[in-house]
Amino acid sequence: MKTTDISGIRKNYSKHKLDENEVNKNPVLQFELWLDDALACKIDEPTAMTLATSDKNGKPSARIVLLKGVNEKGFVFYTNYSSRKGREIKQNPLAALVFHWKELERQVRIEGYVEKIPEKNSEVYFSSRPLASRISAIVSPQSKIIHGRDFLDKLFIEYKNKSKNKIEKPANWGGYVLIPDYFEFWQGRKNRLHDRLCYKRLRKGWKINRLAP
Ligand SMILES: Cc1cc2nc3c(=O)[nH]c(=O)nc-3n(C[C@H](O)[C@H](O)[C@H](O)COP(=O)(O)O)c2cc1C
Repeated sequence: MKTTDISGIRKNYSKHKLDENEVNKNPVLQFELWLDDALACKIDEPTAMTLATSDKNGKPSARIVLLKGVNEKGFVFYTNYSSRKGREIKQNPLAALVFHWKELERQVRIEGYVEKIPEKNSEVYFSSRPLASRISAIVSPQSKIIHGRDFLDKLFIEYKNKSKNKIEKPANWGGYVLIPDYFEFWQGRKNRLHDRLCYKRLRKGWKINRLAP
């Protein structure tokens, strides 16, 4: 067996810093600044985020989804409501997001409460998706066990032939919004003395604290 020693892989971080006197008092606006930086430096998949959920017994699970919008309410993503994550969100609406923009030596953690977005908004987004993505969302029973790849390919072609391009959003597919009550912005610094600023939602505004790295 070929074993590569990964224990010695070590990177020094030195590109930026994070100062409580310079950050935006509103974490959503601070997030948007960092997202703009990620977009500007052409990071691959800058909107990819890890979404952590848990079931009613507290057993966690995590996967990557794509952020599709940030608004005054929160962070929007789309998925199958009958998927594992959809079932878990129904059991426990508390969830967390993590972004890692490694080219900028940055991580953002966001925690909050998840709810479905209005059906109308999901319909608008669904109809903006490429045809093949819409068909896949319809034919894929996301998170269910299936008997081979052929099952999906066959369903895809059958649906494409019979639908004549008139494709409506299935009821079990749509958007969620994570309404944040906690953020943490992490900036890698030299000697492992990284900057960590967290924001906790107050009745009015946000409280910023620095955390030890
Ligand atoms: C880069 C990337 C982007 C993804 N984007 C989404 C997405 O926006 N929505 C989605 O449902 N799954 C997305 N997935 C697939 C999920 O990671 C996951 O496999 C799927 O949602 C099923 O998860 P679940 O069984 O925990 O519900 C993406 C995966 C990757 C690697």
